[in-house]
Amino acid sequence: MTLMTLKVSSRREEAEGVVALELVHPEGQPLPAFEAGAHIDLHITPTIVRQYSLCNAPHERHRYVIGVLDTQSKEGGSKILHQTLKEDALIAGSTPRNLFPLVPARHSILVGAGIGITPILSMAEALSHSNDSFEGHYFVRSSEHVAFRARFEAPCLASRFSIHKDGMGGIDSGTLLSILSDPEPQTHLFVCGPPGFLNVFCGSAADAGWSSDRIHIERFAPSSAPIRENRPFYLRLASSGQRLFVGENQSALEVLTEAGIDVPSSCERGVCGACRTTLLGGVAEHRDDYLSQAERNDGEAFIPCCSRAQTDELVLDL
Ligand code: FES
Repeated sequence: MTLMTLKVSSRREEAEGVVALELVHPEGQPLPAFEAGAHIDLHITPTIVRQYSLCNAPHERHRYVIGVLDTQSKEGGSKILHQTLKEDALIAGSTPRNLFPLVPARHSILVGAGIGITPILSMAEALSHSNDSFEGHYFVRSSEHVAFRARFEAPCLASRFSIHKDGMGGIDSGTLLSILSDPEPQTHLFVCGPPGFLNVFCGSAADAGWSSDRIHIERFAPSSAPIRENRPFYLRLASSGQRLFVGENQSALEVLTEAGIDVPSSCERGVCGACRTTLLGGVAEHRDDYLSQAERNDGEAFIPCCSRAQTDELVLDL
């Protein structure tokens, strides 16, 4: 993945616990283009790399804007950014990648909860720019938690966005019903937020008759920690026949990387899908939060950064 140096051109408190960082090229050159829903990886320390969704309008080339939520974790990358990354600081970042793209739809329903509003905001700007039909919903705990307020109040978004200050985990069922009541086949849902919110929202969408291919999700964190015991297994590479042993304390991705096999990766927590590989044989034990249930049932995809094997061997299309 290509890395570049970015400079913090401004830092602004956006809401309780949220700062917005504007990142630019140090010499003022245009930045690589991005699409709505894209993220960049920031290399916060030599060992901490975190993904941040770009929340500015995708036609902008002079800056990337990210929203960073201060987390409770002392070692968390976002905590470090909050405490140390001041204006004019330099930081290494990747070129943008998009694992949460908009798809053509007659109408799009954009839903963000908490800091999950960041990719949703970029999507809203893109759909507004192209005059496409959409509506947006932003779930927050309280008024103090509304980030990027001025953008929601701008004419292009104000009439299309609703801000729901009725919590994130305990969403009001009437609100859910009104958003999800019409699962029209050419309407797509784009949802980003914390795991608890996603579970409630997407479960309600499925109950209301939304098919999974029209529910597009971006997760920021794994929905649950694996509780199963790790068992060792083998990987077989289809192209060479090479057989690699994955010990109980290793991930398949680590083993592939050590063997010199180039597998893209980013979150290394099973949420971004960057390391997705094609499974040709064996049965995976899926521990990721990326693959849909339909993809799991097909048995043709494997997320090597966190998933393991039910069978003694997995054959990968590598
Ligand atoms: S690196 Fe993100 S899912 Fe594997």
